[in-house]
Order: sequence, then C-alpha cells, then structure tokens
Amino acid sequence: MAILEIKNLHAEVDNKEILKGVNLTIKGGETHAIMGPNGTGKSTLASVVMGHPKFTVTKGEILLDGQDVLEMTVDERSRAGLFLGMQHPAEVPGVTNSDFIKTAMNARMEKGKNVSLFKFIRELDKAVEGLKMNEDLPHRYLNEGFSGGEKKRNEILQMKLLKPSIAILDEIDSGLDVDALKIVGENVTAMKSDSLGLLLITHYQRLLDYIKADVVHVMMKGKIVKSGDISLIERIDQEGYDWIKEELGIDDERVVIPEEEKRAVLGTCATKEALKL
Ligand SMILES: Nc1ncnc2c1ncn2[C@@H]1O[C@H](COP(=O)(O)OP(=O)(O)OP(=O)(O)O)[C@@H](O)[C@H]1O
Ligand SMILES: [Mg+2]
Repeated sequence: MAILEIKNLHAEVDNKEILKGVNLTIKGGETHAIMGPNGTGKSTLASVVMGHPKFTVTKGEILLDGQDVLEMTVDERSRAGLFLGMQHPAEVPGVTNSDFIKTAMNARMEKGKNVSLFKFIRELDKAVEGLKMNEDLPHRYLNEGFSGGEKKRNEILQMKLLKPSIAILDEIDSGLDVDALKIVGENVTAMKSDSLGLLLITHYQRLLDYIKADVVHVMMKGKIVKSGDISLIERIDQEGYDWIKEELGIDDERVVIPEEEKRAVLGTCATKEALKL
C-alpha cells in the first residue's frame, strides 16, 4: 500500500514563497480533497510534488513509501507511482496521444521490455469507451485543439492506463459539462482500491458527489489551515470561506498579495496615522 507523506513543505518561485509549511499524508485506499480560494497554493503543491522545475523547495520533505521524492527526477516520480492530472494540460503538437501514453507505459516496464501492442490497444480502446471519448482523440496530437472537457477526460485516460499508486487530480471537474462530470467521476471511482491514494483539488462539492472523499482540507496562505470530513465541503458550498477566515483570524487568504494592494493598505494606514484615527 502506497503512502505519500508531505512534511512541513516550503517552496518558492522567483524568490516568492508560495508554500509555507504544508503537512499532508495520503495512504492507499484514501481519498483526500483540497479546497481553498483562488491563489492559495493548491496547484503549486501539486506541481511541487510532481517536480515542476519552476519551483524550489526550501524546506521540508516529500516521501513516497519512505523514499525521498525530492531527490527524484520527474520521470522517476512517475515511475515510482505518482500521477498528476493537470488543471491546465499542456498541448504537445507532433506527439500523438497514444504514442505519449505508450511511451509512458514502456518507461514503467523493466529495462528492455515493452508493453505488448495488442494489450495496449485493447486497454486503450476500453478506456476510451469507458470515458465515452471520441475515438479519434488517441490518434491526434496530445491535447492540441482538444476542447477544455476533452483535455480533462484525456488526463483520466492517461491515469487509467498508467495505474498510479498516488494520483493528484487538479480541478479535473473544471470545463466538464454535467454528463462528462458524471462519467469522469464514475471512472475515477471505479479505479479506487487499496492500492490507490487520491488527492482531489476542487472548488465545488459536485465532483465529490461522484467521488467520495474521506478527508477534506482547506488551503489558505500556502498551507492547510483546516481539515475535516465531508460536512466541511457542504458548509463551504453554502457559506463560502469567510467563516473559516474569521475562525482562524485570517484577513487575506492569498499567498501573494499584489504590490499595489499592499501599497494601498499601507497608504491607508499612513493616512489614518496622520489623521490620528
Ligand atoms: N511563476 C510564478 N511567478 C509568480 N507567481 C506565481 C508563479 N506561479 C504561481 N504563482 C503564484 O502563486 C500563487 C498560488 O498559485 P496556485 O496556482 O498554486 O493557486 P491555486 O490555489 O491553485 O489557485 P486556483 O484555485 O485559482 O487554481 C498565486 O498567487 C500565483 O500567482
Ligand atoms: Mg490551481
């Protein structure tokens, strides 16, 4: 059973600290959901776990089954069982979708061995059918010209074939129509097992109507500030985040506050001071 441990993780980009001490443990068989207002570090966390070179980890650790993930290259992380379904999947002209998936599957095989073409085509066809995708999508260039919803389904197609042990799905629900949301949700739920730990990043309860989460976390200011059960989502869906901010004494939940806003606040303070308000 896989276990991903994120301990006191700090990460920065362009000398700006975005993650400020994330602690999270996900075990095989568990489904965690992370919610949180825009710009609070959710996608950054996903990128850092997967090894995006843009971010520098300055403190903390990430362990997968006790192994140091931060020491691994991106492809080693993938081979070790980590998977990221991206919020904004990249377009890769010139590489067909099926070639991309086949190459990734081969990279997981023992050195010198390849996945059998027959087995690959059978699995791919089955997954395409299960996701009710257009049959031409595997043969087109990766994500090029795909609609928003097609890109998201395609992330799940990759996940079905790569069979990760820890999968992070970043806003997999955004851009999906109601029927597609149901299909994607049911496909992910069908993959649930003791050998899969899931982390869903989402803004809405509707995804979790199809994929049941065991634990719900809220991220603000680059860390997890609150965790609870599914009732947390219901309350956020109805009331938003203000009650959590009030409860925790958080004024601004964003990690990066634009300079002009900072100046405006400082300006207001200075004016108040001058007027002795
Ligand atoms: N390359 C970068 N340069 C500067 N700031 C960055 C960079 N990458 C991310 N950030 C900032 O880090 C903060 C967190 O971004 P992130 O994408 O993790 O937010 P998020 O919680 O996923 O938000 P959303 O819900 O909108 O997807 C944002 O303020 C973002 O602008
Ligand atoms: Mg995001």
